[in-house]
Amino acid sequence: MLRWFEVGKKRKLRKLMRRREATEAPALVICVGKACAERELSRALVGHVRAHAARRSLPVRVEVVGCLHVCEDGPIVATYPRIKFHRRVDEARAIALVDGLATPGE
Ligand code: FES
Repeated sequence: MLRWFEVGKKRKLRKLMRRREATEAPALVICVGKACAERELSRALVGHVRAHAARRSLPVRVEVVGCLHVCEDGPIVATYPRIKFHRRVDEARAIALVDGLATPGE
């Protein structure tokens, strides 16, 4: 269910992905901004998820953004193109999200 306060955030993310010329290919978007979590934590998450996706040759991009406009309870991660925001994402959760994006419909 779409929550009213997520509409603007989703619109901003779609606009950002269009600027990056992202297709509708699946992506996991990870915030590395300082307001939602320690930057080192978010950057480590990016590294782990990218390594996992590369090891398994998953057709999922791992994108990094400066802010996803949620800004608390991070690290904040969003799935794309079906945008859903996730809070307090750890490595296991991020890997599960990437695996889910690689196998849509499961
Ligand atoms: S700084 Fe991470 S969502 Fe805003």
